[in-house]
Amino acid sequence: MIKRFVFGNPMETEAVPEKPQAVQIYADKAGKEKKGVKEDVRTGKKSETALPHLVWDDEALSLRMDDEDIVYGLGENVRGINKRGWIYVSDCSDEPDHHEDMHSLYGAHNFLLIDGTETFGLFIDTPSKVTFDVGYTKYDELRITVEDNAFELYVIEAPRLERSEKTIGTTGTVTVADGEKCAMNEWDTQDGFAEQELSAPEQIVHEFRRLIGRSYIPPKWAFGYGQSRWSYMTEQEVREVARRYREHHLPLDMIYLDIDYMERYKDFTVDREAFPDFEELVEEMKEQGIRLVPIIDAGVKIEKGYDVYEEGIANGYFCKDEDGKEFIVGVWPGRCHFPDMLNDEARRWFGRKYKVLLDMGVEGFWNDMNEPVIFYSEKRLEELFDKLGAYKGRNMGVDDFFEFQHMPAVLSNCAEDYRSFYHNCRGQKVRHDKVHNLFGYYMTRSAAEAFEELEPDKRILLFSRASYIGMHRYGGIWTGDNKSWWSHLLMNMKMLPSLNMCGFLYVGADIGGFDRDCTRDLLLRWLALGIFLPLLRNHSAKWTRRQELYEFGDTEDFRGILALRYRLLPYLYSEFMKAALTDGMYARPLGFAWREDPIARRVEDQMLIGESIMIAPVYEQNAAGRVVYLPEEMKLVRFKDAQISEETVLPAGHHYVEIPLDEVVLFVRKGHILPLAQGGEKVADVDWDELELVHFAGRGARYDLYDDDGVSRDVDLDEGIQWICL
Ligand code: GLC
Repeated sequence: MIKRFVFGNPMETEAVPEKPQAVQIYADKAGKEKKGVKEDVRTGKKSETALPHLVWDDEALSLRMDDEDIVYGLGENVRGINKRGWIYVSDCSDEPDHHEDMHSLYGAHNFLLIDGTETFGLFIDTPSKVTFDVGYTKYDELRITVEDNAFELYVIEAPRLERSEKTIGTTGTVTVADGEKCAMNEWDTQDGFAEQELSAPEQIVHEFRRLIGRSYIPPKWAFGYGQSRWSYMTEQEVREVARRYREHHLPLDMIYLDIDYMERYKDFTVDREAFPDFEELVEEMKEQGIRLVPIIDAGVKIEKGYDVYEEGIANGYFCKDEDGKEFIVGVWPGRCHFPDMLNDEARRWFGRKYKVLLDMGVEGFWNDMNEPVIFYSEKRLEELFDKLGAYKGRNMGVDDFFEFQHMPAVLSNCAEDYRSFYHNCRGQKVRHDKVHNLFGYYMTRSAAEAFEELEPDKRILLFSRASYIGMHRYGGIWTGDNKSWWSHLLMNMKMLPSLNMCGFLYVGADIGGFDRDCTRDLLLRWLALGIFLPLLRNHSAKWTRRQELYEFGDTEDFRGILALRYRLLPYLYSEFMKAALTDGMYARPLGFAWREDPIARRVEDQMLIGESIMIAPVYEQNAAGRVVYLPEEMKLVRFKDAQISEETVLPAGHHYVEIPLDEVVLFVRKGHILPLAQGGEKVADVDWDELELVHFAGRGARYDLYDDDGVSRDVDLDEGIQWICL
């Protein structure tokens, strides 16, 4: 059950496609709007409102938390799966330092799930800043403050649990002995998808996800491994990466092109000196089963004669300053304008520009710098030079020097700049900071809507750096500029369920870390986590040590781990698609499945991937293994060189499990089945018909395997499901 409350006059975000009736409208802070007000918050009677769970005190929503309460959600953020004990600010930020004392990263994901004495969900829908003080100021208080007090609040309760019996099919079943290989046509009966039982938090997520609409579905090949680098500078370099991957039999499905494929960093251009036969290159790579995925940035270079610039100017499609002149910012190409993504017409225009690359055979993109990043604004740059000049010749002591040193650093992404330009939202002039969190979302939406028109029969790969809930319908996300740090491997894992709750299913981090130098052991361990994530991409910054898998000596270990990804593909794809098509979760915290188990509820370094398996990756350097908690009896399955080397049933409780660098261990849940393919060096090689079943199940157990052609937009859960029964 979902209740909607409107506070003040919030701007529409289009996060919720079909809104339920607002059950209550409270007065805004100025007390002007009193439509349907039961109680005027201005009168001072603070808490006796009709709001369930929460108190509105005219400045913030608050809630008392019990010790047992766990606060899930908030998508892309630092710290734990349980968000208690910190302040988070939804304010899409170009933040390269994902330290644990950060408050904002690139996304704004205002969904919370409180699980404890009472269990319910909250979604704060507003395009500007929201602060979530989750027990930081007062240990037992959750306090939510929204800029301008203009927002819509959704309170989501779990429906009364009417547990649907999981029906076990009797038709079309085959008996499968342990480990026996079966051809798919032995159990070719088509049947409907059996609803899973959902726990209360799962039901709340499900309700919320139904509210915000179906998550983005990429093409199947996008579940392969992608190699990226800022940047592969020439055609030859791209060919070389492909050649070396194939030569070492390291699976590969994508090579990413960073900003240097463009001509002087101009969106929708190709540098013809470095990539003279770009179209041929795209084709040649495709023949090897490798897609090229170029980056698109938010800023459009100011350059006479450049069509995107000229058209934008001619039609008034760029964001304007106070005086109505195009706002100038500095990004990669130097001086740029921002396309007005919130202007419907401008957004359609920008989206159609992707056609240039689609026509060259490209089938996937990553949208970047769309918080949007401002290296500098013209105005602030001039001011800075004036100020710096004043220090010339001065004998600088500590205060002067620190002030001097600090000045250029605050030039970028300056709050004042975000208050200095405007959007044209359906004829209304709106200051950017009021809608800041929508920019990346609407940029990605511009592309996705154009793809629907331009490629109606084909899924196009699309993911973004900045995001807001609502964007999950149009694309995935990668979690930006992390570092080659062990702590970031762990953070990668912790973010995953939080992102899923907010609708983002096609997600991943830069495997191996974007910034700083990666080491062989870190990359192996990170890959051993990454093979379970939908978006699996190794990416690194230009000043760092090369991070392609073949750059670390012997490739055997890497090959073994990566080959397992391709063996897992039928399962991972199936679980992803079921999550997308039933508004469910792909990665779940243990507390969602074992709610009554106080230990499971606090585990933050293991998680369920789909219905059948639990993972517990190693994330500490030099560790030979780790302690794993099993909430119930499970089957440990060990893989070396992508082959099963051990299957051991372990009782519930804590276990120390040895996990050498070149092995992957996963745990199959009781009553469950894990189908494994034979593998391949690209997604297209993987044979969905020749599966090996790993299971920890008795007779009657069933797995619903989903598959489709991997490209059509038209997807049907029931049609794609085949049962595997024991
Ligand atoms: C940003 C992106 C990063 C990319 C770089 C150059 O920092 O987050 O992934 O490599 O820009 O385009």
